[in-house]
Amino acid sequence: MHSFGYRANALATFAVTILVIMCAMASFSDTFNTPSPTARVEVLNINWFQKQLHGNDEVSMTLNISADLQSLFTWNTKQVFVFVAAEYETPKNSLNQISLWDGIIPSKENAKFSIHTSNKYRFIDQGSNLKGKEFNLTLHWHVMPKTGKMFADKIVMTGYRLPEDYR
Ligand SMILES: *[C@@H]1O[C@H](CO)[C@@H](O)[C@H](O)[C@H]1NC(C)=O
Ligand SMILES: *[C@@H]1O[C@H](CO)[C@@H](O)[C@H](O)[C@H]1NC(C)=O
Repeated sequence: MHSFGYRANALATFAVTILVIMCAMASFSDTFNTPSPTARVEVLNINWFQKQLHGNDEVSMTLNISADLQSLFTWNTKQVFVFVAAEYETPKNSLNQISLWDGIIPSKENAKFSIHTSNKYRFIDQGSNLKGKEFNLTLHWHVMPKTGKMFADKIVMTGYRLPEDYR
């Protein structure tokens, strides 16, 4: 005759087995989900653009960040970390990346948004001249799944330029 303890144990083993199978299926099914997020960032205003006392250029801008990241959400998605960065070249570095804004998207319902904001982090270049500088704005995302590997990707938006003069 099976004791209660034995049956409880068998049940627990069964539950763990099912859980392992479900986790494996979750990560597997994610492999076949090809998301198609969209993003658009508009520079609405250059609030100010100046050279600091110690010589670094700094710019403050107002952005309109619109994105639809709903396709990143599957039932296996815990949350999505998103950030917008300015990327540009200088004689010293082929890629300078400055994060301007970031956020955490907790659910699919919050994944389609339009945010009107000035840069949350300072846009400062170490030493070089940003006058008339061409830059790209990129929207990066990191998808944190409930189970399985994290993945990241980005959308590059090209053709932005800083003003020729300080203001
Ligand atoms: C921001 O961009 C969205 C999408 O392009 C647009 O619908 C909205 O009116 C814009 N908001 C502002 C303040 O420009
Ligand atoms: C902007 O992105 C395009 C395409 O990825 C790239 O060819 C170009 O060099 C980038 N421009 C800057 C200023 O980083």
